[in-house]
Amino acid sequence: MATIIGILGNKGGTGKTTLTHLVAHGLALAGHRVVAATTDAGREPLSKQHRRYLPVDARTPEALEKVAAKLANVDGWYGVLDGGANRPQTDERLAALADLVLLPFRDSPEDLRVVLRDLERFPGAYALPSQWPTNVWQREAAERALGRSLGGCASRILRPVPAISATKQLLEIVAPVRLPPQVDTAARDLADTVLARLGHRRDTTDAPAAVAAT
Ligand SMILES: Nc1ncnc2c1ncn2[C@@H]1O[C@H](COP(=O)(O)OP(=O)(O)O)[C@@H](O)[C@H]1O
Ligand SMILES: [Mg+2]
Repeated sequence: MATIIGILGNKGGTGKTTLTHLVAHGLALAGHRVVAATTDAGREPLSKQHRRYLPVDARTPEALEKVAAKLANVDGWYGVLDGGANRPQTDERLAALADLVLLPFRDSPEDLRVVLRDLERFPGAYALPSQWPTNVWQREAAERALGRSLGGCASRILRPVPAISATKQLLEIVAPVRLPPQVDTAARDLADTVLARLGHRRDTTDAPAAVAAT
C-alpha cells in the first residue's frame, strides 16, 4: 500500500495546495513515485505535462475513495492529499487515510490560533510553518510569536518552508519544463523532513530553527 501524506487545516491560504505540489515534486526528485490528489472543488486539476509526479482529481467524495482504493493497491508509492479548508468532515476523512498529517500555517496570529486548534483535533499531526520569512529580523520575530503560541507543542513543529515567490509556478495548469533551483531545493528539503518524520529516512538536519528559538 502507498504511504499517504495529508496536508490539511481549517484555514485557507496557508499553503496547503502549494505544499502538496512542493512535497510531491521533492519526493519525485528523490526517486519516488508520487500521486498528488486535489480534493478542493474550487480548484482546477493540473496537467501531468512536465511534472515528475501524477496530479489526480479527487474533488468528489466518490473520486477520493477511488484514489484511496488505488493507492491501497500500490506498494512503494506516495500519495499526497491536498485538503480544502473549512471542511472539518473532509479533513477527518483525509486524516484517517493518512500516515502523516501536516498542518501548514503562516506567521500570523490568526493562523497560529487555527493551527493550535487543529493540532488538538489531530493529535498525531505536525504543524508546518509555511511561507516563512527569509529576512533575518522578520524570521526572529516570527519565531518568537511561534514560541509564545505553540511553545507547548515544540516537538510537533517541523522545519519551516521559506517564502519563495516562484513556488506559484508549481500551480500553473501546465508546469514549466524546469522549475527554478530554489523551488527544487525547498522541495527536496520538505521531502527530507517528511521522509524523516515517516521513519523512511534518517533526518540529518538539526532541530528546526523555529523550535530551537523557543
Ligand atoms: N512557500 C511559499 N512562498 C511564497 N508564496 C507561497 C508559498 N506557499 C504558498 N504561497 C502563496 O500563498 C497563497 C496561498 O497558497 P495556497 O497553496 O493556495 O494555500 P491553500 O491551499 O492553503 O489555500 C498563494 O498565492 C500561493 O502562491
Ligand atoms: Mg488549496
